[in-house]
Amino acid sequence: TLSSEIDRLLNTLSDPAARKGFEMEMVSFKQMFSRYISSQEQNTKMEWDKISPPPADQLIAYDSLIQQADSKSLNKLAVLKVNGGLGTSMGIKGAKSALEVRSGATFLDLVVQQVQHLNATMNIDVLLVIMTSFKTQADTLKVLKKYVNDSVRILTFNQSRYPRVLQDTMLPYPRTAEDELRTWYPPGHGDLFLSLRRSGVLDQLLSEGKEYLFVSNSDNLGAVVDPAILQHLIESDLEFLMEVTNKTKADLQGGTLVNYNGSLRLLELGQVPFEHREDFKSVFNFKILNTNNLWINIKALKRIMDNEGLNLDIMEKTRYLDNGEVVIQLETAAGSAIKHFKKAHGVVVPRKRFVPVKNCADLLLVKSDIYRIENGNLVANDHRLFQTMPTIKLGEKFKNIDEFQSRFKTIPRISELDHLTVTGDVHFGRACDLRGTVIVAATEGKAIEVPDGSVLENRLLAGSLNM
Ligand code: UTP
Repeated sequence: TLSSEIDRLLNTLSDPAARKGFEMEMVSFKQMFSRYISSQEQNTKMEWDKISPPPADQLIAYDSLIQQADSKSLNKLAVLKVNGGLGTSMGIKGAKSALEVRSGATFLDLVVQQVQHLNATMNIDVLLVIMTSFKTQADTLKVLKKYVNDSVRILTFNQSRYPRVLQDTMLPYPRTAEDELRTWYPPGHGDLFLSLRRSGVLDQLLSEGKEYLFVSNSDNLGAVVDPAILQHLIESDLEFLMEVTNKTKADLQGGTLVNYNGSLRLLELGQVPFEHREDFKSVFNFKILNTNNLWINIKALKRIMDNEGLNLDIMEKTRYLDNGEVVIQLETAAGSAIKHFKKAHGVVVPRKRFVPVKNCADLLLVKSDIYRIENGNLVANDHRLFQTMPTIKLGEKFKNIDEFQSRFKTIPRISELDHLTVTGDVHFGRACDLRGTVIVAATEGKAIEVPDGSVLENRLLAGSLNM
């Protein structure tokens, strides 16, 4: 069985400290796996008829928040970035957040600058906490090294490493406890709660008088500390607050916040019965999107973990590996913890608080002159409103981060761009300027080189030209 195989993996380790760490992780893995098996047997999917939009008094408009938290309250805050993801969709080898955004500054550097600025202007000591995984730890520590003697205090902890499971046998994919990286995975950002406690960071935060935790994705540079949201958490005596934003066509697949049997729940596409998947994707039925910006009362979190425990909804993901193996991995999402907390709200925030980088087109945007950076914050240039961000479609050849980097000698100017589509084998030279609608389409087997300094305005380049 899976469980006896896990015990066999444990016996491939001899070092007592390594055994202890592995054993602790595998206890939670086994629990998750057996919860998954029993939920499959009992078919405990959410009942579609019991799902409705959140009631008005639990879904608050951002503009209605007027008061700002003072420095005393802000001082009780810790900022946590979830930074353990594999970055599969961009073919990233280490940490996505260690990619450069602007003149040598990575996502992580900008996050540090955001907290530095907050601390300096308010004269406070907000802690920065970063969750890494076996995949992202080395890259992350390398970037953070330069801040060891900095005024901003940074804590890091590693999230769990779980074995992938072979789909046909339902047995662990790794053959030893130290088998190759591709046989393991980090089990989603919902793992932050267990890992935060196991690492001792949860208790450290409490012992330092921290009461509120602001969680967000490390690739979302829009997730800056907002004193008005913190004040709402405090004033309304909330234990959990989820920032949501209005869905657009680009994020129909994203998780949403719903009312289920009288309490707020995160609903993800994977939890939706097959026959209702199209209903889920309709912006008409589900207007709001989870940004994964979450505000949590730390004492309430500890109370729940010490008592009933967190049973986050389990999502099964199937992965097709390069060597032909098909594996499944069980993951949880941080937002699904909302169901355990006594009083929770959603706050509908402007889109600028949610600027995730999921693919190379998103990366192109944040690296471009659409934004300028102020104190680590992304600020849209004045003449561009968020509503009018250019749409950028990059073809298969730009999917992987290495390809993307080699295909743009420098990031083109796009402040006057409305729409860009690139397909096929295309390379952009230095300092190009793209304006209006630009389509560059190289035919199969042919290449297009856009020369240094090109200005393309409402242009279609097709075929195989060397301009
Ligand atoms: P996503 O789930 O969107 O994954 O992560 P990803 O790593 O960015 O990309 P794909 O899906 O593999 O292509 C949202 C945030 O959650 C973090 C990521 O680092 C990112 O900041 N995350 C994700 C974790 O911290 N741990 C995980 O196990 C998964």
